[in-house]
Amino acid sequence: MPIYTALQAADPVAYNALMGEMKRQSDGVELIASENYISPAVMEMMGTVFNNKYSEGYPGKRYYGGQEFTDIVESLAIERAKQLFGCQHANVQPHAGCPANVAMYFALMEPGECVLGMDLGHGGHLSHGHPVTYLTKIFKFVRYKMKDVETGELDYDEMRRVALQEKPKIILAGFSAYPREVNYAKMKAIADEVGAYTVADMAHIAGLIAGKQLRNPFEDGFDVITTTTHKTLRGPRGGMIMCREAELGKKIDKMVFPGFQGGPIMQMVAAKAVAFGEALRPEFQDYAKQIIKNSKHLAKFFMDHGAKLVTNGTDNHLMLIDCVKSWNLPGGEVETLLDRVGITLNKNMIPDDTRKPMDPSGVRLGTPAITTRGMKEVDMDILGGFILKAIEKRSDDSAITSLHGEVIEWCRRFPVPGIAA
Ligand SMILES: Cc1ncc(COP(=O)(O)O)c(C=O)c1O
Repeated sequence: MPIYTALQAADPVAYNALMGEMKRQSDGVELIASENYISPAVMEMMGTVFNNKYSEGYPGKRYYGGQEFTDIVESLAIERAKQLFGCQHANVQPHAGCPANVAMYFALMEPGECVLGMDLGHGGHLSHGHPVTYLTKIFKFVRYKMKDVETGELDYDEMRRVALQEKPKIILAGFSAYPREVNYAKMKAIADEVGAYTVADMAHIAGLIAGKQLRNPFEDGFDVITTTTHKTLRGPRGGMIMCREAELGKKIDKMVFPGFQGGPIMQMVAAKAVAFGEALRPEFQDYAKQIIKNSKHLAKFFMDHGAKLVTNGTDNHLMLIDCVKSWNLPGGEVETLLDRVGITLNKNMIPDDTRKPMDPSGVRLGTPAITTRGMKEVDMDILGGFILKAIEKRSDDSAITSLHGEVIEWCRRFPVPGIAA
């Protein structure tokens, strides 16, 4: 365990909460598809004096002095991001994924213009125009869906029909709960027909693209990629916007700062540089490959045991289980039950769910975090077995308590970077 002596002395209450969270993370199995464990090197950089520096502007063009070292780390993050994703421009300052998307929308559109994106019930994200967001007061959002939820294939014919009718300014790929690969070339052809920008929000799968296991939308001519840096990419919490061509990057830069943000969170920018350095190493490709192997293996395990998965499998790091069809239980009950045995995942709507968002039919789970801990296919069988046993024994309190003990003992064999010695 790292030692936090100054924190312990200064603020025992906050310190104890930190100790509790560290124990929770090492004694539990993290299956939330958007979470991961950063490396000790990334974590070290996040807690540094770069926090103390104001750096409004960009490397070489700042509003304050004293930028010789902030310029080094921000330039490093930019150059590494460009190399990782094969593009001409990267803005590494967005504070998170949603602010990156907001800046991207405003850079590419005028108020009132239209985005064609994935239906939110079929796996799109809140920031792709959910009615609860303020974005929908400013821009118009229209939708495409899966053509067939049994295979997960997107409905490219419907996408084209809506595009010709609505003339969107942006055609948006990218999802929070979609287990399949996308045909970016088809989307790009539709966008070219109507003169739209192509944007991919790769928040979930950025690490799988950087690790060369999933297709890179830039290779099919996409204009922009937005992403978070903390999911499969395994960096600090944050966002990023990349452009295939440098010219478009100028619009993005202006909209991130001064358009929407002030000073960059420089310790996070510096930690992005460290994380991107890690992602450029060959071992990261092995990591990305193993995430998908584990995910496919776990998905098959569930299906072999009679569970119903949305799209009947997965091509990436996540899967959606229809818990009502599989076990006659709502997703929320499965989430709560698994919490009791130290396995964390989230309830999730399934496509065209008839239940409510806070009480949906499914759960979403993914393998990025457990793969970082070193788990392999053989461990997926054990894990799947724990989950099925919890469901089977759900009314037996003592069986659930003893299963929790087994889960703790088992997962302690897989050290969490930055926590276990
Ligand atoms: C596809 C997608 N875009 C954007 C975001 C938003 O990221 P953040 O929570 O960092 O704002 C998420 C987060 O879950 C996401 O899945």
